[in-house]
Amino acid sequence: MGIEDLRCPRDRAPLEFRPGLESGAGRASPTLLCTACRWISPLSNGIPDLPPPDGWEPDAAETVRREQAFRDDDSVRYDGMLGLRLFSRFELPLLLSGLRGTEVRVAEVGCGTGRVTLRLAALGARVLAVDHSLASLNRLQAKLSAPGRDAVQLVRSDATQIPVADGWATHVVSAQLLEHVPTEALRRRVIAEMARVLRPGGRLALTAYRALPWLRQEGFHSGELYFHRFRREELARLLYPWFDVTTLTGRLGYVWLVRGRRR
Ligand SMILES: C[S@@+](CC[C@H](N)C(=O)[O-])C[C@H]1O[C@@H](n2cnc3c(N)ncnc32)[C@H](O)[C@@H]1O
Ligand SMILES: [Zn+2]
Repeated sequence: MGIEDLRCPRDRAPLEFRPGLESGAGRASPTLLCTACRWISPLSNGIPDLPPPDGWEPDAAETVRREQAFRDDDSVRYDGMLGLRLFSRFELPLLLSGLRGTEVRVAEVGCGTGRVTLRLAALGARVLAVDHSLASLNRLQAKLSAPGRDAVQLVRSDATQIPVADGWATHVVSAQLLEHVPTEALRRRVIAEMARVLRPGGRLALTAYRALPWLRQEGFHSGELYFHRFRREELARLLYPWFDVTTLTGRLGYVWLVRGRRR
């Protein structure tokens, strides 16, 4: 996976790499230029910062902006969450089972600081890892070993616009992202986007908060991070237009584990 596989999230046109040129003022940073809309995306630390989505309802846009700012600030602490590290022992083998080999092309949505991405790289997959928090992506970039850096392309983009061509991925993986997408309409767009980038027969594996009677179904963690806990039927309804759901289980406790096959 490399920059040459990336597409403009707005019109899916190829992106052209522009090296930073030497000038009297010093060396300019490299950029990516969309060959159709001519949008110029900066590359920071090798991570393309692609155009944000537009045309959203102002309330939803503001909630997503707050989530992203919180994730940037929280990226230093995220890996130190002991509970999540322990939970990984149960969640990751289930999420990633059956996924191995260099022919595997994974779009990972909401990769954060790389709890899942590093495992994917170790399994030999080629990975496009997308998140809207640049600080989290920078932390992840620093953790990738040299072979990992060749196999994994990190990109800052929204989950509703995964910057690759239709059918590029053999697998889509997403751990605990969907619950932070603030409206039903946007959640539908995220799932439709996952379906778009998957080839027919491709596999989806995701985890997402599960509604439990003693927990609030919706709210904000730390007053900033929107969350929604899904009822089984609600999650099944979101996936139904695109996927044959093969697993929808609550065995991981506070999250659903979902596996599906792209129709
Ligand atoms: C709970 S963290 C999970 C991170 C990682 N998948 C893991 O399991 O450790 C949720 C991640 O989703 C990202 N995220 C939330 N909403 C997003 C959106 N609309 N577009 C892209 N990333 C988003 C956040 O920045 C954060 O890194
Ligand atoms: Zn474009």
